[in-house]
Amino acid sequence: MGKGKVIFIYGGTGDLARRKIYPVIQKLMKRGRLRDLKAVYALSRSGFPEGYLETLDRELAEKIRFVNFDVSRREDYRVLEKEIASFPGDELIFYLALPPHLFDQAIVHTGSVLRHFMNPRKIVVEKPFGFDLESARMLNFQLKRYFTEREIYRIDHFLGKVSIQNILSFRFSNYIFEGIWNKNFIDNVQISALETVGLEGRVSYYDRVGALRDMVQNHLFQILCFVAMEPPAVMEAERIRDEKVKVLSSVRRIKPEEVDRYAVRGSYRGYEEELGRPSNTETYACMKLYIDNFRWEGVPFYLRTGKKLKEKKTQVVITFKEIPGNFGKILGCMPERNKIGFEIAPGNRLILSFEMMPPTGFLSCPVESRMEVSLEDAFGGEIPDAYETLIEDILDGDQTLFIREDESELAWEIVQPILERWSEGSPELYEPGSYGPEGAERFIKSDGRRWVLL
Ligand code: BG6
Repeated sequence: MGKGKVIFIYGGTGDLARRKIYPVIQKLMKRGRLRDLKAVYALSRSGFPEGYLETLDRELAEKIRFVNFDVSRREDYRVLEKEIASFPGDELIFYLALPPHLFDQAIVHTGSVLRHFMNPRKIVVEKPFGFDLESARMLNFQLKRYFTEREIYRIDHFLGKVSIQNILSFRFSNYIFEGIWNKNFIDNVQISALETVGLEGRVSYYDRVGALRDMVQNHLFQILCFVAMEPPAVMEAERIRDEKVKVLSSVRRIKPEEVDRYAVRGSYRGYEEELGRPSNTETYACMKLYIDNFRWEGVPFYLRTGKKLKEKKTQVVITFKEIPGNFGKILGCMPERNKIGFEIAPGNRLILSFEMMPPTGFLSCPVESRMEVSLEDAFGGEIPDAYETLIEDILDGDQTLFIREDESELAWEIVQPILERWSEGSPELYEPGSYGPEGAERFIKSDGRRWVLL
């Protein structure tokens, strides 16, 4: 009886596998974390691009076994069954690095094969987890037919990012900030994930998905949960996930007739030409959310993301209310609000922005000043890749940084009215290299605010 690990990667020669999964496995092997790895199966309809395997260490390359495999063909799972039979007692890890429309078949067929085996098992599902609420429920239903929740790892790679994990750690270890982390002091929260890249060969995937499904429903909502959740009673996976679920449950639901007041979409000029046909898929999305609980009542959370924008920046900016009897205002100056920023990309920085008196005299206008700490400078060393953290957690069986069933459905529930509304009409065009559509500017201006980056 073995006690090793065998990894099966569906989509095993695809972009994600090549760019992220194999390099991480290689790193973990080097760190001695995978001494018990017996084999890595690359299951795919097409082989590795020439020369790819040679870029990997021999130790890993020798463990990779390519199997010509079509996830939607039942017969191909017979081969899988035979292979599994040669690893009695070993832990089997099935990693679905597939386009989301193939998840369902991969789960059902793999699940049926596994009924013949007693091996310990884990299944890893990439995002987006479904296309909408109904398909996510269906996926969960299928997963639960064959796997227990303890065996299911729904990935959102943003949770593997150190600077996102730091939001939680920062909040729950610093009294000076946690004390003001609520509606009494905070005016608004902005979560931006701006990208300069376009679709980089992913057009056919992206056009089915769009910015709301690709980034907002998962990555930005996960950040939202970390910013807004209550401290868990105990620092353990289930209790942390319970608190995230509470945040999502408290998000005010948008009524179908209100969607245009809560969300704006855009598409960059040239997208349809790239795609080669007309499309109403959004490459930019922004929205406003309210969390109706004691801590956040009335505080707007603005979320935005888009492709081909002016700069690559992923940031959370917390803007505080104006201090009563603002000194600068009394002096007739134009004071800025205090802000705390968590930068996730391009740097891993914490930024404090506040007003300070310049040394030009007591009654000078206070000037916006900032303090910054970058995780790299503060702690040195290499920041681990998000996938490295998450794959290591999968090996360890730690589900803290993975999405639970209820979380996955609640997140869809929130965006569902927007998805429905956006299935009709078309997004507003924006220029590549801009900050998105004009409508997004009007949207926040109508609340008397502006988009902020630090
Ligand atoms: C992926 C999206 O999940 O996240 C991509 O599918 C996006 O469209 C990417 O570009 C952004 O991630 P990161 O880690 O590069 O900020």
